[in-house]
Amino acid sequence: MRRSRLTTLLTLATLAFAGNSLAATTPADAIKYRKAVMSAMAAHTSAFSLISFGRVEHQGHMLAHVDALAVLGTQLKVLFPAGTGTGDTDALPLIWQEQARFGELLTASEKSTADLRAAVAAGDKAATMKAFKAVGDSCKGCHDRYRKEND
Ligand code: HEC
Repeated sequence: MRRSRLTTLLTLATLAFAGNSLAATTPADAIKYRKAVMSAMAAHTSAFSLISFGRVEHQGHMLAHVDALAVLGTQLKVLFPAGTGTGDTDALPLIWQEQARFGELLTASEKSTADLRAAVAAGDKAATMKAFKAVGDSCKGCHDRYRKEND
């Protein structure tokens, strides 16, 4: 009895969530989401670098951070839908004016985060450092051209 009521509640909650996700995304929410994913990438990058430069000892967490980075790296390409270049955003309109060039930076980020995960999984330190630098370059390369300067 108790259990089936709980099941019903969970089912309703699931349906409510599914229903919400079908509603059209507002540009403001798309921007918020983009910033949340970007911040998550930044958090995993700094956690990873604290471990890899030996400033903290959580070697066992390393793979989790690069796994997350690689997964988020594949999600970047859907974070810039048309219509999200104005409002509470630092994204520059140039993004939507040169989609091919912007796309290359998305691909570079996806590839470098995948390479980083592979290098860490293989325990290859030299490849890890190389890939980590490429990840950093890809973040910076895109921000330099497509993100407003922070004051
Ligand atoms: C292909 C382009 C691109 C790549 C690659 C990229 N970013 Fe960004 N990033 C942006 C843009 C554009 C914004 C501004 C988003 C906005 O304000 O709507 C941004 C915003 C951010 C922000 C600020 C989020 C906020 O709350 O305002 C952080 C932090 C960030 N990026 C970190 C990273 C890190 C770390 C990486 C690499 C692992 C990365 N980004 C890769 C384009 C990129």
